[in-house]
Amino acid sequence: MPRRKLQKIKELHDLSNVAEMQDLNLKNKLADFLKNKKPLTLELGCGKGEYTLALAKENQTENFIGIDIQGERLWHGAKIAQEQKLNNVFFFALAHRKYKSILRAHQHKYNLVDFPRSPAAPR
Ligand SMILES: C[S@@+](CC[C@H](N)C(=O)[O-])C[C@H]1O[C@@H](n2cnc3c(N)ncnc32)[C@H](O)[C@@H]1O
Repeated sequence: MPRRKLQKIKELHDLSNVAEMQDLNLKNKLADFLKNKKPLTLELGCGKGEYTLALAKENQTENFIGIDIQGERLWHGAKIAQEQKLNNVFFFALAHRKYKSILRAHQHKYNLVDFPRSPAAPR
């Protein structure tokens, strides 16, 4: 794997606005993000998170989570969210089929966005 890609995957662990499946702190990070109980939208297969970020900027009174299996892709979105102080954005680096079980304990109602180019739609 290219060194730059590996570096991004390593850095993901330290980003407060990202949770990975193996993250022992996942539940706490998520609970903290969702504690304001704002309406939530998930983007499946968010890639670098451009669309998630755009939605979050437009709708600052709502929460947005971008999900992608390739952590090094959503690293970009997470870094931009931090730079732009977008506190209503969070990213999951995991396979989309996992999100339901993770969210169940926190929030039951949410909107789903599945970008037309994404193969990540639930089947
Ligand atoms: C065609 S790209 C679209 C990215 C982004 N939505 C965009 O339009 O720029 C599809 C994305 O889906 C992600 N993906 C594919 N299978 C997935 C899965 N099972 N769970 C989560 N993400 C997945 C890929 O890693 C990739 O970033």
